[in-house]
Amino acid sequence: MHILITGGAGFIGINLTIKLLKQGHKVTVLDNFITADKNNIKNLLREGNLNFIESDICRELPKEISRKNYKQIYHLACPTGVPNLVKRAREMLLTCSVGTLNILELARKNGSSFLFTSSSEVYGDPQIFPQNESYTGNVDSLGIRSPYEEGKRFAESLSIMYHRKYKLDTKIVRIFNTYGPYMNTADQRVVPRFLFQAIKGEPLTIQGNGSQKRTFCYIDDLTAGLIKVMRKGKAGEVYNIGSDKEITIKNLAYQILKITKSNSKIRYIERPGHDHQRRLPDLNKIKKLGYQNKITLAEGLKLTFSSLN
Ligand SMILES: NC(=O)c1ccc[n+]([C@@H]2O[C@H](COP(=O)([O-])OP(=O)(O)OC[C@H]3O[C@@H](n4cnc5c(N)ncnc54)[C@H](O)[C@@H]3O)[C@@H](O)[C@H]2O)c1
Repeated sequence: MHILITGGAGFIGINLTIKLLKQGHKVTVLDNFITADKNNIKNLLREGNLNFIESDICRELPKEISRKNYKQIYHLACPTGVPNLVKRAREMLLTCSVGTLNILELARKNGSSFLFTSSSEVYGDPQIFPQNESYTGNVDSLGIRSPYEEGKRFAESLSIMYHRKYKLDTKIVRIFNTYGPYMNTADQRVVPRFLFQAIKGEPLTIQGNGSQKRTFCYIDDLTAGLIKVMRKGKAGEVYNIGSDKEITIKNLAYQILKITKSNSKIRYIERPGHDHQRRLPDLNKIKKLGYQNKITLAEGLKLTFSSLN
């Protein structure tokens, strides 16, 4: 089957591409490298069934993209990372709006199944725990995080409109924190930041007192879930995906010190005002499709650490 992955050179995209290639599919990756490391895809290009096109989805799509018959489109493209909430705010909003519209049109013309990777950020700073898919969230449309949060909410709305109006086979997944090999260290996500600090013997920097809780899903579980939703999910539906096992940031730091056998210290630094205290997915809906997390946090951190050596 021929599959298109937008944003396929990024962290989740590369891992998904590898999995789909292993399953025998032909994959085309479309990416403009705004938050990706070029080396990831370069190393994969020896694979015969992989085609890469460098392009910005906000612009007119290249003819070589438009003419193909993709059975499935995984739409992952979006600038990510906390520092980019300000630096790349314009690109986030445009990619979620204009870019998503371009990819939805491509899916409509091709009759492709379309999966959009939304985010737990659509729940903002939630008031209800755990969050299930019908929770409408607590989002500040003007806040620092709004280019990402509102961008994703708008893209969800566009995707659902294409299902309602054009009967497009559209699925939405709301991804909670995910980690694993090929993460970009430049975006300051907590797992790669702690790992690199531990490896270099630098202090692990905890924002605030470290009591804030997070959940972490290993990338293999996530990509398996994306494929499951694409194949078995119901058109027009949204699914949470991630892990529902919570850990405080302080405990995560200690676990990483143990796994890396590092002598690094812990340093407490100022916490950004827009950082949320806690988010927790209700996974009942996706579990009905047969989704389950197989990799524990300890196993996943070990796998991620060994991928860096
Ligand atoms: N990793 C997570 O924990 C997580 C959590 C929630 C949601 N998501 C979503 O999953 C998707 C993939 O995330 P990721 O962690 O791999 O991030 P990533 O930044 O590594 O990957 C995103 C990719 O999209 C590309 N891109 C951005 N704008 C583009 C444009 N206009 N045209 C073409 N390519 C463009 C980037 O260059 C990058 O390769 C994103 O949509 C992200 O919002 C990820």
